[in-house]
Amino acid sequence: MSSNSANSIPPQPPEALQDSHALPTGERPGSREGGRRQISRFLREGLRAIKRARVRLGTGGVEILAAHDRVEGILKLQESQLLHQLARGRRTIVEIGSFRGRSTVLLALGSAECQGEVWAIDPHMPSPDAPWMPFNSTDLDAFRKNVREFGIERRVHEILSTSDQARTTWAGKGIDLLWIDGDHTFEGASRDLSNWTPLLNPGGVVAAHDYSKHWPSVQKAWDQFMAKSSCFVHSGRVKAIVWARKV
Ligand SMILES: C[S@@+](CC[C@H](N)C(=O)[O-])C[C@H]1O[C@@H](n2cnc3c(N)ncnc32)[C@H](O)[C@@H]1O
Repeated sequence: MSSNSANSIPPQPPEALQDSHALPTGERPGSREGGRRQISRFLREGLRAIKRARVRLGTGGVEILAAHDRVEGILKLQESQLLHQLARGRRTIVEIGSFRGRSTVLLALGSAECQGEVWAIDPHMPSPDAPWMPFNSTDLDAFRKNVREFGIERRVHEILSTSDQARTTWAGKGIDLLWIDGDHTFEGASRDLSNWTPLLNPGGVVAAHDYSKHWPSVQKAWDQFMAKSSCFVHSGRVKAIVWARKV
């Protein structure tokens, strides 16, 4: 989980070390190693500030940063920006895997102009594919609080079930954007792709998170599905998000 996920934040270091410029314990002031560390820390911070400034200056920058900073989650800033972009002009959005709502909020904010609606599917229960992850009902409370705080309750519809269960009862209209970030097993990710993509409208987009070497199961599911399907054109990849458009 990301460094800013409440459940994964390690115990805080003593106060002296919370100063980002403090030297690690035992390091001599003025030592070469200490100097190197400080330079690399300054560079990292500078790079981070540049990335944030670029997002801020882009379309929807202020709200993207607000959602990214205020809602816990693992999406990286560029991924948050991408989701907001992908949601623009989409009226019917299905999200598989909400956690505390970072992606949900970004999708709802990105689609605000056309009053897009987000169906947020998540059982908010411990997950068999990631038993080490702290998925539970506190996420649901946090999810609801975040949705309220961003004033998007009217456009976010909570579906408290697995994506498989939700699919059997989905009586909704065609989908414009399908965002998959739920069960990360090969079987689970493959099922989400094969069960839900037929509901995409022509021109609709499917995007998935964790398409990376850290989740070979997700990568394999995506690659196999796309290799078999002639309905999609690969559209792009940013960090660990991959997406394709239905033709
Ligand atoms: C990586 S988190 C999602 C992060 C979220 N998209 C965000 O931006 O913060 C994965 C979520 O998927 C949910 N999940 C796991 N299996 C699922 C399934 N079969 N159907 C729907 N959601 C599932 C978990 O409860 C968890 O909240």
